[in-house]
Amino acid sequence: MKAITIAIDGFSAAGKSTLARQLARRLNYAYVDSGAMYRAVTLFALRRGLLDNRLDEADLVASLTQVDLKCKKTDSGGEAILLNGEDVTAEIRGVAVSDHVSKVAEIPEVRSHLIKMQRAMGRAKAVVMDGRDIGTVVFPDAELKLFVTASPETRARRRCDELVAKGQQVTLAQVLQGIKKRDERDSTRAHSPLAKAADAIEIDNSHLSKAAQLQEAVRLALRRIQPQKGGKSKSKP
Ligand code: CDP
Repeated sequence: MKAITIAIDGFSAAGKSTLARQLARRLNYAYVDSGAMYRAVTLFALRRGLLDNRLDEADLVASLTQVDLKCKKTDSGGEAILLNGEDVTAEIRGVAVSDHVSKVAEIPEVRSHLIKMQRAMGRAKAVVMDGRDIGTVVFPDAELKLFVTASPETRARRRCDELVAKGQQVTLAQVLQGIKKRDERDSTRAHSPLAKAADAIEIDNSHLSKAAQLQEAVRLALRRIQPQKGGKSKSKP
């Protein structure tokens, strides 16, 4: 069996992370949540006071060498992200980080710094990485690229339920507004904007269960991993 790279991109709260995590587990691949890396840099900037009035880009860029990020498996089988040794997995999902992350992710130096780390993490293949520019910029040669979509309302409802379950006080209207703002910013920025790669397969999961979505992704992945029977190469997907 050959090891492949799987890139999963899509809009905010489209369910990329759930799919990527489940797919990685099923294939026994590593999972990298690239959004968590942008969020951790945003938390670093917030804590430094670099986002107090307006984003202090020059200071943040100069501080990037002090940002050490590590992904680690937790005892319960999940993933944790460590910012300079501290587990910030829960804090990076908060409203403060969500509100500022797209601004931080626009800075070219932040992107090139994180993209370098992401490529190093995927060097050995056997990886599922999710984000906004994985299939277009980080791994343009990925053997499988998925682009996950759902309507803004569906995404907002899912994200709102997730946040409320975690004890955060948010309304559906607030979450929808935040998601739309982030979609707009992510799609229109100058550097590696959110875009569907020409060879990506779109999965609209508005009316798909998590199990059905996973089944389709596993099917697509196995076609690329397992050598074709009979020696004939079939065309994608
Ligand atoms: O909230 P959601 O899970 O959809 O977003 P995320 O994957 O945690 O990513 C948070 C933010 O990081 C995005 O809104 C983008 O601004 C940025 N990001 C990016 O620019 N490039 C990536 N490859 C991943 C995330």
